[in-house]
Amino acid sequence: EATKRDALNRLQNELDKILQTDESGKSATMRKEFQGFVGLFTRFLKETGPSVEWERIERLPEDAVRSYETLQKPTADLVHQMLDKLVVVKLNGGLGTSMGCHGPKSVITVRNNLTFLDLTVQQIENLNRTYKVNVPLVLMNSFNTDEDTEKIIRKYRNLQVEILTFNQSCYPRINRDSLLPIAKDAKVGGNTEAWYPPGHGDFYNSFKNSGLLDRFIKEGRDYCFVSNIDNLGATVDLNILNLLLNPDHEKGQHEFVMEVTDKTRADVKGGTLIQYEGKLRLLEIAQVPKDHVDEFKSVKTFKFFNTNNLWAKLDAIDRVLNEGLLSMEIIVNNKSLDNGQNVIQLETAVGAAMKTFEGGIGINVPRSRFLPVKKTSDLFLVMSNLYSLKNGSLTMSPQRMFPTTPLVKLGDKHFAKVKAFLERFAAIPDILELDHLTVSGDVTFGKGVSLRGTVIIIANHGDRIDIPAGAILENKIVSGNMRI
Ligand code: UTP
Repeated sequence: EATKRDALNRLQNELDKILQTDESGKSATMRKEFQGFVGLFTRFLKETGPSVEWERIERLPEDAVRSYETLQKPTADLVHQMLDKLVVVKLNGGLGTSMGCHGPKSVITVRNNLTFLDLTVQQIENLNRTYKVNVPLVLMNSFNTDEDTEKIIRKYRNLQVEILTFNQSCYPRINRDSLLPIAKDAKVGGNTEAWYPPGHGDFYNSFKNSGLLDRFIKEGRDYCFVSNIDNLGATVDLNILNLLLNPDHEKGQHEFVMEVTDKTRADVKGGTLIQYEGKLRLLEIAQVPKDHVDEFKSVKTFKFFNTNNLWAKLDAIDRVLNEGLLSMEIIVNNKSLDNGQNVIQLETAVGAAMKTFEGGIGINVPRSRFLPVKKTSDLFLVMSNLYSLKNGSLTMSPQRMFPTTPLVKLGDKHFAKVKAFLERFAAIPDILELDHLTVSGDVTFGKGVSLRGTVIIIANHGDRIDIPAGAILENKIVSGNMRI
């Protein structure tokens, strides 16, 4: 106990010193954010045991997860007033680093020269025009993404969509051994490695602190729809909104909805929904005791996974915050910096707040509502003829025989970065009939290539394979320097 108190005191001292160096005039904001950080850090020191006891996980009640198909479509005359109650929030704090890009992930070009941000704006603009409403689009930025995002959204000024932004918190990374901040002063821009955005669970506090939560409640808005900006399937769904605003049962309102979808063997790492202490909550793999990881990954025992498309009632968020009830499991993210320093960053996930709300429910949505772009292999799919684009939304081509997406694996060394990936394709091949594609090594593709069934292309070290323009590869393995 004494050492913990000591660690906390030393941390507080260092934070005070950092605050004293502030020259930007933002020390009041920083002080508030540091309070949030100290709260998280205190919990981190205190909570040593597992956040869930495996034996206490209960069976999911029958009505815990509703099938999307059972939802009622709202009548046309209701839609207008329903949309007046909605705010759309996109989580936009993340960078495109994992795909080799600088700047916010949302400014990566996805299709037809349009970025995630462009597509999102198109979707909302289309919604607003179609129903003659003004659903605001809110972006949660971080200190990493704010400047670039603000520059880009200027070009949308004349569109029929109000875009609002707020910044999530900026927390100090701490040294893994000393548990003290590695920042020496308050200049975040001077040493960005010393700071981090603490995960999307930061949404609730930052949204409230920005004043936007209060503003929307005053305006008479009721629910926010929150999703990852890199999930191209996360469009506003009127059937779900209808369930929230016009519940078809007597059990009262759902303050929180998590859209889940059927887990396949490809997504065993995603968070799942469990019943615990009489309520629904998110269970992430990081919380699972080692000897239960296989069970967690099983697609039979835990059938669903979290798409991170979430709907939350605005006044419930406000209540939970005012009463200090918000509690989300801490995710400890260990990192090594470029200079070899080992640091810890404490994060939270937005879906982890589900257990604090009343009437939480899962909705089992079609897979099409989960279309994330995490890797260039995802980009390959969304750029291809598997999808068509209309008003910012992607829909799967009706020419695809089965509505499943092909399993695509592109070699890390030559394809992981967007620039390298794009250079390797003169055009994205036709993949309407593709089931499985594995590409590894130095491989390039000419124009008008068609890939069908299972295709495996492996260029060994020192070799290069050029798939010529117009080639049709069907259930084929290409390796070495074989001619096609
Ligand atoms: P990530 O890409 O980092 O998460 O962010 P993930 O690997 O999909 O896993 P989950 O969703 O955490 O389970 C997902 C979205 O959250 C935003 C990113 O910009 C992206 O849209 N994000 C992430 C923030 O806004 N702030 C953060 O601190 C982290």
